[in-house]
Amino acid sequence: MLLLCILASIVVVVFLAISFSAQIRKYAAGGECASPTRLDGKTVLITGANTGIGKETALDLATRGARVIIGCRDVDKGEDAAASIRMSCSNADVEVRELDLGDTCSIRAFAQKFLSEFNELHVLINNAGVMMCPYTKTVDGFEMHIGVNHLGHFLLTYLLIGLLKRSAPSRIVVVSSLAHNFGWIRFHDLHSQGSYNSGLAYCQSKLANVLFTRELARRLQGYNVTVNSVHPGTVNSDLTRHSTIMMILFTMFSIFLKTPREGAQTSVYCAVAEELHSISGKHFSDCAPAFVAPQGRSEETARRLWEASCELLGIVWD
Ligand SMILES: NC(=O)c1ccc[n+]([C@@H]2O[C@H](COP(=O)([O-])OP(=O)(O)OC[C@H]3O[C@@H](n4cnc5c(N)ncnc54)[C@H](OP(=O)(O)O)[C@@H]3O)[C@@H](O)[C@H]2O)c1
Repeated sequence: MLLLCILASIVVVVFLAISFSAQIRKYAAGGECASPTRLDGKTVLITGANTGIGKETALDLATRGARVIIGCRDVDKGEDAAASIRMSCSNADVEVRELDLGDTCSIRAFAQKFLSEFNELHVLINNAGVMMCPYTKTVDGFEMHIGVNHLGHFLLTYLLIGLLKRSAPSRIVVVSSLAHNFGWIRFHDLHSQGSYNSGLAYCQSKLANVLFTRELARRLQGYNVTVNSVHPGTVNSDLTRHSTIMMILFTMFSIFLKTPREGAQTSVYCAVAEELHSISGKHFSDCAPAFVAPQGRSEETARRLWEASCELLGIVWD
């Protein structure tokens, strides 16, 4: 009897999902960036843009006339993405450069080359990320989530901040997540050496993205360089690759998820929207201001994380 009820419920849910698929898809798509802003003559750098949200962000900004540089760890994958962007937009100006955010030597080499090649940087999108990977460390011994998602981007931004200031008005977009709500910064064990939970490690790194955004915005006051963080939505991308359960769930409920193009909308919005020209230190989702968890609003935690990050990376950033 119970089995019959469960089966009947599944049939009803599937029937409703199919019947209302158009409405569900429209709702799941979320906000769209309506700004017509062109980016001719502007230079944009997007990390992890060889796939997913980053690739769609690159396509959108290239279509607006920007010169787009894809920073990715696998240059072949990056070239494939660049070729597909050029297929969609024949005059897209897209270039690929090697950048492994899990290796500070790679980040420094990338930044040095970038600074020698490009005189301006108007938009930096810190998009690359890993989620729920097994316990692994970056080349420098940082736990992978905090190492790539936070520390790698922290160092990259530090190395490029002078160029961003010289190119002002310029913008930084930090791709965080709703997952920051479930994170807290474990200062006593930032690298999860005492205990490791891949989900919590991801949440910690995404909270770090929000705190970094707030503290950087405070320090950038008066420079005409803004920085805002983003939750892209729940997006059907390769991000779940390390978790079989998440992959199954994402496949089963794909109708309720955003496509990567839909997921890119808030990043694009923060990069181009005219009304955001002086908005900094805020968090956005669906092209609108979004809720930030109390632990993401703590100035004290943001400052402490900033200092801990500088110490780990061996840099002085006042
Ligand atoms: N998908 C979602 O539902 C969702 C929700 C909230 C937030 N986000 C955030 O959105 C961002 C983009 O995610 P996505 O969904 O587009 O995932 P994705 O398709 O897996 O893309 C992630 C990108 O990050 C790159 N990456 C990973 N490790 C790197 C490293 N060490 N150095 C350089 N690049 C590296 C990947 O490169 P490879 O291809 O070489 O691995 C890939 O290009 C992430 O920051 C993620 O946390 C996503």
